[in-house]
Amino acid sequence: MQDKVCLVTGATSGIGRATAKALAAQGAEVFLLVRSRDKGEIALQELAHETRNSRLHLLIGDLARQSDIRRVAAEFLSTGKPLHVLVNNAGLINTRLRHTPDGIEEMFAVNHLGYFLLTELLRQRLIQSAPSRIVSVSSGAHAFVKGLQLDDLEFQRNGFSTFAVYGHSKLCNLLWTRELARQLQGSGVTANCLHPGAVGTGLGNQNARWARYVTRLLRPFFRTPERGASSSIHLATSPEVEGVSGKYYYDCKPIRPKPWAEDDAAARELWQLSQRMTRLP
Ligand SMILES: NC(=O)c1ccc[n+]([C@@H]2O[C@H](COP(=O)([O-])OP(=O)(O)OC[C@H]3O[C@@H](n4cnc5c(N)ncnc54)[C@H](OP(=O)(O)O)[C@@H]3O)[C@@H](O)[C@H]2O)c1
Repeated sequence: MQDKVCLVTGATSGIGRATAKALAAQGAEVFLLVRSRDKGEIALQELAHETRNSRLHLLIGDLARQSDIRRVAAEFLSTGKPLHVLVNNAGLINTRLRHTPDGIEEMFAVNHLGYFLLTELLRQRLIQSAPSRIVSVSSGAHAFVKGLQLDDLEFQRNGFSTFAVYGHSKLCNLLWTRELARQLQGSGVTANCLHPGAVGTGLGNQNARWARYVTRLLRPFFRTPERGASSSIHLATSPEVEGVSGKYYYDCKPIRPKPWAEDDAAARELWQLSQRMTRLP
């Protein structure tokens, strides 16, 4: 990876930190996209020390704010550097309905629109840098819903449910990756996504104390972040997946998601809505 430039979102913690560390350890130049400058600087210093790689940089932006995504993407583009690997990883799970400053339900906004908008803004650079790869962290939680519900993104019809809204955002990762891979055919850019397993990370730590307590109780049964990052690292670096696109991985192997995650019409519908919600042409 010595001659590769990578960008990892959510690199302060959990799977994203472990992914960034592995890429840096393999010699790549790595941009860490983080929302907190303080946390980012600590992660950058630790990773530089642990991997002896000084080609690590911070990009600071909140993926819940589309204006931040635009600013951060412009900042990266202005470096003039190629982009060989984009890892869309930053995500969250909320136990309560929360809205972003843009007025969008937060899990859909960060977990899906964050991936969508950042990737669209960096798409031409990825194409110019081909062969290049887009790796997106989805989840087996896409099985918590039975299809897209684009007319009720907050799941108000049946009442807000953490699992449904989170699962829906992760279903969006799968359907979006499918449409993205279709659009990128022949460009030299691949797009794949993955389920990391149940991983002991900071996911959900911003929620109420009871939710953090449940997570702590379950922690012994969870994978380590390093193990959880294995498919992200495999898809980002392995020669084995050169040219492979539009797939869903678990434990470094392609698997079939639920049938409703392979619905091309739904994928196109999601794309159009995402374009409108991010005001992209
Ligand atoms: N853990 C699991 O069992 C599991 C299972 C399936 C899928 N996943 C997926 O794995 C991905 C990584 O999660 P994780 O488990 O590693 O959790 P984590 O330890 O909480 O890491 C999440 C990362 O995303 C960042 N982030 C959250 N909201 C953001 C925002 N608005 N803007 C910028 N960055 C933001 C966090 O930054 P801060 O440090 O500032 O909070 C953190 O760096 C997520 O997409 C998640 O859905 C996790």
